[in-house]
Amino acid sequence: MKLRLHQFLARSGVAKNNFEIAQMIKKRRVRVDNEVVTAESFVFDTKRRRVFLDGEEINLQPTRYFVVNKPKGHSCQRGEYPNVTDLLDNILRNEPKAMRSLFVVGRLDRETEGLLIVTNDGKMASQILQPVEKVEKEYEAYVEGGLTDKDMQTLETGVTIVVDGEDYKTAPAKLKLIKRIKIPSSGKVTSIVQIIITEGKKRQVRQMFEKVNHPVIALKRVRIGALKISDIGERWVMELSRNDILRALE
Ligand code: URA
Repeated sequence: MKLRLHQFLARSGVAKNNFEIAQMIKKRRVRVDNEVVTAESFVFDTKRRRVFLDGEEINLQPTRYFVVNKPKGHSCQRGEYPNVTDLLDNILRNEPKAMRSLFVVGRLDRETEGLLIVTNDGKMASQILQPVEKVEKEYEAYVEGGLTDKDMQTLETGVTIVVDGEDYKTAPAKLKLIKRIKIPSSGKVTSIVQIIITEGKKRQVRQMFEKVNHPVIALKRVRIGALKISDIGERWVMELSRNDILRALE
């Protein structure tokens, strides 16, 4: 497997964050075979070369796979608190390197709840994120107002949202109105909608509903491929084998 030196150090769990990795490399503490390497982008075959930190050999952490039921308020961004990785503390209390090697696949906004995959397997992560793989992500959204059939058709066909400062037309989506509720005190209507997308652009679902003038009030991811939120039951975190997760993403 070919990796950049930065990726190798991240997945071996020797550093708390990207800054620490950059410092290790810059301060000439890292060797690949007999050569001190000072470029984070140095690419090498991890099966053929050996990596040393301060003279001690380091290795990739074995691949691990977790599904997490992220509560509202937790962040997926490294260094922000409370963090989704805090939810893994109980399981990985005695495995700091494994803990530090993990990253979140397909982040959720802080205010979104629901299903997340946390792993240190970069190949599997790109499989979930690559649009060509078309892994379905299903959300339950509470949106302001009464969503009409026309709104749903517009969203199904695709709307233009902003991704990295550029206009982006969303790929076809599937929508289903679950129900409309009227709040007696205010008379206001809220629609509960199922939306299935295959992409994962930043704030995609929120941006899509804003486009049809029905801003999201609450959002929950309930499925990724065949993995359902109900599979986790009452727990926050469940560890899966590589086979389990690959089967769920087929
Ligand atoms: N779409 C959003 O808008 N937010 C998320 O967290 C996930 C998908």
